[in-house]
Amino acid sequence: MKYFLDSGKIDEIRYAYENYGIDGVTTNPRHIKESGKPQMTVINELAEEFKGKEFPISVEVNPHLEKAEDMIAAGKEISAVSPNFVIKIPCNEQGLIAAKKLEEAGIRTNVTLIFTSSQALQAGRIGARFASPFIGWQEATGVDCQTFMEEILLAYENFGFETEVIVAAVRNGSQIASYAAMGAHIVTAGLAVFKDSFEHPFTDKGLKIFADAWDATAGN
Ligand code: E4P
Repeated sequence: MKYFLDSGKIDEIRYAYENYGIDGVTTNPRHIKESGKPQMTVINELAEEFKGKEFPISVEVNPHLEKAEDMIAAGKEISAVSPNFVIKIPCNEQGLIAAKKLEEAGIRTNVTLIFTSSQALQAGRIGARFASPFIGWQEATGVDCQTFMEEILLAYENFGFETEVIVAAVRNGSQIASYAAMGAHIVTAGLAVFKDSFEHPFTDKGLKIFADAWDATAGN
C-alpha cells in the first residue's frame, strides 16, 4: 500500500518525502490555507519542488465551480503547471462528467469527497486515476467505514477497474493498518498521523529499560 501525505505545507512535504519515503501528496484548499500562503503560491512551489521527479500531487479545482465545463477548463489549466499534478474533482454529477472528459483528454484525476460505495463505483467506471473515499469524517460521527471500504475494493476488483483507491481523512495508525490489511491501494494522512503510526509507548519503555541496563553494565 502506498503512503500519500495529506498536506499543503511545503516543509512538511519535503520532510516526509526525504524521511518517510512517501509516494505522493494530496492537497486540498483547507490544507493549503493552513500553510498561510495563497493557493497558487503553494501550487507553484510544489511544481518546482518535484520538477523532474515522478511524484503524483493531487491539486483541487476551485471548489466554487459548479459546471463540468468550468471544472474541465480549470483542470486543464492546473495540469499545464506540472506533469505531476493530478486534478482533484468533487464527486457529484458535474464533477464526474468533468473527470470523465479530463481522463479522456489524458489528464489524471482524483475524484474526491466520496462518502458512498455508489459514488466510488462511478469514479471507477469513468476511469478516474484515483478515487478518494473519506473515512475520518464519517467515523467521527460513529459510522463504521469498514463495510463501505470492503464493498468499494471488492467492486473494483470484480469489474477490473484500474482506479486506485485512496483511503482519505485517516486519523490514526490502526486505521492505516486495517485498511492496508483490507487491500486498499493508498492511504493519505497528515504528517502527525504517520509519525504517530511509527511509534508506541512500549517502544519508549523498552528503550528506557535497555538504556538503564546499558548504563549499569557500562565498562563491565
Ligand atoms: C484527501 O484527499 C483529503 O484532502 C483529505 O484526506 C481530507 O481530510 P482532512 O479532514 O484530513 O482534511
